[in-house]
Amino acid sequence: MTAVGPWRRDRRRASDDWVARWLAACSDLAELERSHPMTDAVIDEIDGRMIRIGDQWLADFASCNYLGLDLDREVIDAVPAYLARWGTHPSWSRLLGSPVLYEQIEARLAELVGAPDVLVLPTITLIHLSVIPLLAAGGSVFVDRRAHKTIYEGAELATLRGATLKRFQHDDLAELERLLREDTASARLICIDGVNSMTGNVADVPAYAALAREHEAILYVDDAHGFGVIGERNEQETSPYGMRGNSVVRYFGESYENIVLVAGLSKAYSSLAAFIACPPEMKRLLKTAAPPYLYSGPSPVASLATTLVGLEVNERRGDALRANLWAKTKRVLDCLETLGVHTPNRHGLPIVEVPLAHADQIGDVGRFLFDNGIYVTLAAYPLVPRSEVGFRVQLTAANTEAEVDSLVDVMGRLAAAFDLQRAVERAA
Ligand SMILES: Cc1ncc(COP(=O)(O)O)c(C=O)c1O
Repeated sequence: MTAVGPWRRDRRRASDDWVARWLAACSDLAELERSHPMTDAVIDEIDGRMIRIGDQWLADFASCNYLGLDLDREVIDAVPAYLARWGTHPSWSRLLGSPVLYEQIEARLAELVGAPDVLVLPTITLIHLSVIPLLAAGGSVFVDRRAHKTIYEGAELATLRGATLKRFQHDDLAELERLLREDTASARLICIDGVNSMTGNVADVPAYAALAREHEAILYVDDAHGFGVIGERNEQETSPYGMRGNSVVRYFGESYENIVLVAGLSKAYSSLAAFIACPPEMKRLLKTAAPPYLYSGPSPVASLATTLVGLEVNERRGDALRANLWAKTKRVLDCLETLGVHTPNRHGLPIVEVPLAHADQIGDVGRFLFDNGIYVTLAAYPLVPRSEVGFRVQLTAANTEAEVDSLVDVMGRLAAAFDLQRAVERAA
């Protein structure tokens, strides 16, 4: 007994040391995680887009369920019939066997985004990790510096298989062109976000596509946030987001020549699934070369069901939902403009980042929002550069007008109590 006790104590001390050392290395993030009710929160209950954390009810502006399909009665009521027919979870990897629901989803998605073919896998992260190294094929991967972290993870894996990673400044097509001209690799892959997950702005996909075609590269676009929100433009459109939510390539009226589109169902469609829109030859190859198709567990049947029903709802009611989403987002953007507060949001999409003038106020600002019943995503250093530390508001069609009223009211009081970056200061 006596021999075991001290040994255990020593072990605990040693373990504390290494954990403490690691936490010190990312102290800002660790401090926020430890001290703030808006990170790693346990949600006890929801009521529409209101959430309860402990005793506090808050309006949720951190959800990416842009179309509000997670709370849509038609979508919810359709699920039990699918479960009765397929059970909760087939558990085969897709290579072993896919419920026919996958075929139906892939056909519908290919028609919706107007791509030659579509392959469904569980998440975008898994697609990036498995597909980027394959498409890089030991050549060069050009990544926008502000592309999503999961793209970087895929690109870094590609370097382990002999590819070279080349970063270019955010949206800097001239720098990308220079890098492409200098490059001699036989395979080239350009990776960007369609709608940027922090700024909510839309990349100039036609300009990137033109460069990709000129330099015989593949343009790989992650449109996690655009799919379901922006789509083809025409005179009947109900909002500047365009129609059908069929993603950034169709938003610009582009073809899929040299373009591979990746998007997810877990945001606008509230379902655990993702897809890659690509030529059929690529799809065939991915079926034997992409580990998530070979080995990963599939999306739950409930998610396949909500994807299929969500796609039907989208055809009938999607454009009305998008008009509603746009109007609510506009109210928030107008409020910031009236307050003279800066946001990088230039295209009116429902991702509204509000950077602080002093990064060290992030904890207090978050606490103020929390105490006033507003739940947002905190953007802390080192997740974002210090100059961009702040919070991100996301709107969904399921947020009520009363919740948006409350957000507008709290933003006004927040701007009076704290230093937010001023619109004119940033423009100057
Ligand atoms: C741009 C972007 N790509 C990928 C992801 C990850 O998506 P998934 O949950 O499907 O892995 C996110 C999630 O926030 C995202 O914003």
